[in-house]
Amino acid sequence: MVDEAIVLEVERLRREIDRHNYLYYVEARPEIEDYEFDRLLEKLAGLEQKHPELITPDSPAQRVGGWITKEFPTVIHREPMLSLSNTYSTEEVGEFYRRVMKLLDRQEDDPSAPAFTAELKFDGVAVSLVYENGLLLQGATRGDGARGDDITPNLRTINTVPLRFRPFRNGDTGNSGGYEDSLIEVRGEVFMRKDDFATLNESRPDDEQFANPRNATAGTLKLQDSAEVARRKLYFVAYYLEGEVFGEMAHHVRLETLKKMGFLTDRYCRLCRELQDIQTFIGEWDRKRWSLPYETDGVVLKLDDISLRDVVGSTSKSPRWAIAYKYPAQRASTVLRKVVFQVGRLGTVTPVAHLDPVRLAGTTVSRSTLHNLDEIERLDIRLRDTVLIEKAGEIIPKVISVDMQQRPSDAEPVEVPEVCPSCGTILERPADEVNLFCPNEQECPAQKRARIEHFASRNAMDISGLGKAIVEQLVEKKLVSDAGDLFSLTPDMLQGLERQGETSSTKLVKAIEKSRTRGYDRVLFGLGIRHVGLATARELAEAYPSMDVLSEASVEELEALPDVGKVIAESVYTFFRNPVACSIIEKLRAAGVRMSSEESRTLVNSNFDGMKIVFTGTLERHARPEAAELVVERGGREVRSVSKNTDLVVAGKDPGSKLEKARKLGVRVVSEEEFEAMLFGE
Ligand code: IVH
Repeated sequence: MVDEAIVLEVERLRREIDRHNYLYYVEARPEIEDYEFDRLLEKLAGLEQKHPELITPDSPAQRVGGWITKEFPTVIHREPMLSLSNTYSTEEVGEFYRRVMKLLDRQEDDPSAPAFTAELKFDGVAVSLVYENGLLLQGATRGDGARGDDITPNLRTINTVPLRFRPFRNGDTGNSGGYEDSLIEVRGEVFMRKDDFATLNESRPDDEQFANPRNATAGTLKLQDSAEVARRKLYFVAYYLEGEVFGEMAHHVRLETLKKMGFLTDRYCRLCRELQDIQTFIGEWDRKRWSLPYETDGVVLKLDDISLRDVVGSTSKSPRWAIAYKYPAQRASTVLRKVVFQVGRLGTVTPVAHLDPVRLAGTTVSRSTLHNLDEIERLDIRLRDTVLIEKAGEIIPKVISVDMQQRPSDAEPVEVPEVCPSCGTILERPADEVNLFCPNEQECPAQKRARIEHFASRNAMDISGLGKAIVEQLVEKKLVSDAGDLFSLTPDMLQGLERQGETSSTKLVKAIEKSRTRGYDRVLFGLGIRHVGLATARELAEAYPSMDVLSEASVEELEALPDVGKVIAESVYTFFRNPVACSIIEKLRAAGVRMSSEESRTLVNSNFDGMKIVFTGTLERHARPEAAELVVERGGREVRSVSKNTDLVVAGKDPGSKLEKARKLGVRVVSEEEFEAMLFGE
């Protein structure tokens, strides 16, 4: 029997976590910091690990099961998942409106004309969730509409998919809940935010980039390792609720109910009583959608009154009571001024089009990749040509065609370079390759720069302040030749560079220093081994807990790992036999960069071992983040608010209410001088 107090604590933690999850995702007004949330979750997971008999399927600590399977079982949808008929014209939206009115035998100017909901059309992947007695039973893809794949374990990892929904009040009848013995189906869209998409792509090798967030979402939901799905932050937005208890509840009330149940819904949904309202909504979001953190590709219009939907009916493919208005693909025409051949970190030379700046889908575009030489040939593109560009997946602009009618007489063919634009070495074009390649791996400045930029990037060592401009100068002035050299930089060495004063130089050196504590998997990714993205780096780091062991692994051994094929295995093997790579690794090792999983942060001392410390008021000697870092280096950590669990409050000048609270709770309070003494005291 588990102690009653533990049972209660587990229940309290679950309630608390669910509440904060709701505040964060659905209401977008979090009350606690992310790390505090993580702590609650860790605590719950710890208790459940110790007392597995307390585990329930709806526990927030059970979202990730580390589930791996070979294939997904098939699910037959209870109601077919229809798709929507599309239109790209607002006139057709008017026709749709009038058609529905006619089928319902209503006049357009009838004051009691039925209303439509206008919702954003999320650009993601449609899924269905089935709940039994309030508990998530099954989640599936749309598939062919009649049957889809059962991807429950993957969907469970999504924070905005409630594992158990909250009790709701039935708006029409005033009944509370009533779902205890019923099946309820929720449908909606799984999507990835634009920023998370960018981060994900940064972590992947060049030849494995997703074209847009929708593809990334679809690819992620198909993964057979739910732990990896959990890492790639997906969201679920609900737009459909079905179950006997809801009777004839109008669609917009269902959306409100979904929100009460704990689902994320479209907060911009509007109930439109006239055609004019619908057209206004469409016009408004044509502009505003670019400022959303996720992608939308149109507006969905649905008859709000559910009982009227049967009157209007459906075809075998799509309902007649709804329609999707899609915004036209974002295209613009502009003029090609020059083609610059850019050298990447692995020596690949890519043509980049420099264009006259043009507004497209919310941003100004002046560059676009031309991918490779075959593409230049296919497009027959020449300098001064007028070209049509499109934002594929609304993010990366792409040249799709050349307007031959507008080709000027002086249009010049693109000159393909024979030597590397950066180092002058003769370029190679390996058989079966569409790209040129600079073989001067060791000395080519462009390759050096690109490798260092990759090392410093967000998913790798995340060195803030080490941008393109600085890296370029560092390499040009020969202060740095590879990532290993970064750690010998001093503020003095940086001060001669453009836009580097005393403060920024010191800051940059500190940021480089700080990156030494990044995990070994990120170091491995940062080395930029061909074909090794962040996910592969993690897998390698798990299987080989130190760089030394990994460097000894044979191709056969590496290939035996689940997600490592021959190409990756050979690439890793070759990398560790490259003398340049070995010398970089040695420099990093000497600098104290982590080379194994076990190594943990080296503490300066343990004066604050396990302590939770609150700062209040202004500190004279250290900026806040720095003070927090000093605490971490001594085994403690900073917390934001005072509670009885706080171990110490450091009061600076003009302390706030935290000081009073600390006094009330009897928490120890020290001055900044005392804190200073504690940092270094024995
Ligand atoms: S309703 C029968 N609402 O668009 C109605 N769909 O082209 C079913 N979609 O398969 C769909 N946002 O993947 C609906 N607010 C929204 C939507 C939405 C995106 C997707 C969904 C659907 C496709 C239809």
